[in-house]
This record gives sequence, structure tokens and C-alpha cells, in this order.
Amino acid sequence: MSAPTSNLIEVRNLYQTIGNQEILRGVDLDVPRGETVVLLGQSGGGKSVFLRHLIGLMRPLSGSIKIEGEEIAHLDERQLEPVRRKIGMLFQDGALFDSMTVFENVAFPLRERGERDEKIIRNKVAYALELVSLQGQEQKMPVNLSGGMRKRAALARAIISEPACILYDEPTAGLDPIVSDTINRLIRRLQSQLRVTSIVVTHDMISTDHIADRVALLREGRIHFDGTLNQLHSSSDPLITDFIKGRSHEID
Ligand SMILES: Nc1ncnc2c1ncn2[C@@H]1O[C@H](COP(=O)(O)OP(=O)(O)O)[C@@H](O)[C@H]1O
Ligand SMILES: [Mg+2]
Repeated sequence: MSAPTSNLIEVRNLYQTIGNQEILRGVDLDVPRGETVVLLGQSGGGKSVFLRHLIGLMRPLSGSIKIEGEEIAHLDERQLEPVRRKIGMLFQDGALFDSMTVFENVAFPLRERGERDEKIIRNKVAYALELVSLQGQEQKMPVNLSGGMRKRAALARAIISEPACILYDEPTAGLDPIVSDTINRLIRRLQSQLRVTSIVVTHDMISTDHIADRVALLREGRIHFDGTLNQLHSSSDPLITDFIKGRSHEID
């Protein structure tokens, strides 16, 4: 057994290619327990690919991924089950099942892992919906929810298994500023009420300032910057100041 550490997630020298493209070229990242790390980076830079490795949806070509000290890089599907229970993911597209009510969507992970007690399911769903302020919406179909409500329903489904960690992939993308603000507040609320550890992928600086304890910037397949929010804002690195100000280098 490895020594206990204050980091819930430790990634070392993570390397991945897709086709002949080098997507991740030695990513190192620590995520301290209970903290929210915002992961910034250009579109197409490999942020979603990185998150997929943390729940075993992709296996690294090389490198190490430890969750609570346990190496997960080479676990098989069955061995990954308890790991996936520890980590909830809010996918970029929300991915609710259109043919199921909000209740059935949120209950899905419980049923999938074999929970049969309807009373337990009802109580857990009610608690998760309350945490995302969607109480009373159980019988609605996803098509009848606003964009922000769909995100919150997907978030309720991500937290129903009481994960130690939540991964958010661009949770505010495509939402208006007010709805984005409710999602940011929710991310903070879940951190304080459930004491979850989070990684939030975003390129929204307002969101970053609101929710981040630490910030990492993924650039050209590596972590170019990793520090506190204050360190980010006091950085004189032009790559960082440009990113904060939203200046592009994609078309020079
Ligand atoms: N399933 C896939 N098949 C082919 N290429 C992919 C696949 N997933 C991601 N990529 C490529 O990997 C790169 C990184 O993608 P992604 O992690 O989605 O970027 P980001 O989330 O930072 O915008 C992109 O060039 C993307 O086209
Ligand atoms: Mg992405």
C-alpha cells in the first residue's frame, strides 16, 4: 500500500495519442482532497480526453493515475466499478436519457448497481434533487426542462452515488450568465455540503474566479501552469495573461 496522501487524485506523466496526434504529452496534476481545481485550456487541447482517463473510459498509453492512492491505469472493467462509484462525471452534453423522467434518470445509477429497495431509491433521488434545487420536478421529461435544469438534473444523477469526486466538463458552456451563476453556486454548494473534490473544465474566467481553489492550464499536452487563483492572477506569463483576457493565438 502506498502512504496516505492529502491528494485525492495524482496523475503522473500521463501520455495519450489519438491516431497520430499526441493529445497528452506528460500530464502531471495533483488534486487535493476537498478542493476544486479548475482546468483551463484551448478548445481541442485534450481536456475532455484527460477527464475520461480519470474514470477509466480511456487507458493511458503510459503514465500513472492514482485515485485515493490506488493505481487505476491498468484496471479492467470489473475492477473499475468501485473507482467509478467514487467519481461522478457531468458530461459536456449532459446526456440525460430523453425517454426517461427526471426521477428515472437520477435513479438510474442506483438501479444499475443493483439497488432494488424503492424506498431507498426515492429517498436518495429526493435528496439529490434537493441538492440541485430541482425538488418537485421528478415526473418531468428532459425535453420539458430548460438548459440549466437539464444540467442540474444530470448533476443530480452524477452525485446520486455519493462520489468523493465530481468531474465537470464545461458545465456552463452554452448557458446564459445568470444560469451559469446558478451552476457555479451549485458547484460551491456541493463542495461545502458534500465535501467533494472537484475538477472543473472550463474556459469561463468568471466561473473560474467564482469556484476555483486551484487552477491548472493545459497547453500542448502538458500542465503549463498549476497554482492558486491568486497566483494565476498575479502571473506575468504572457500565455496566462492572454488566456485570462481571452486573447487568441490560434489565428496569428
Ligand atoms: N474519439 C475521438 N476520436 C478522434 N479524435 C478525438 C476523439 N476524442 C478526442 N479527439 C481529438 O483529441 C483532441 C482533444 O480533444 P478534447 O479532449 O475533446 O479537447 P477539449 O476537451 O480540450 O476541447 C482533439 O483534437 C479531438 O479532435
Ligand atoms: Mg472538451
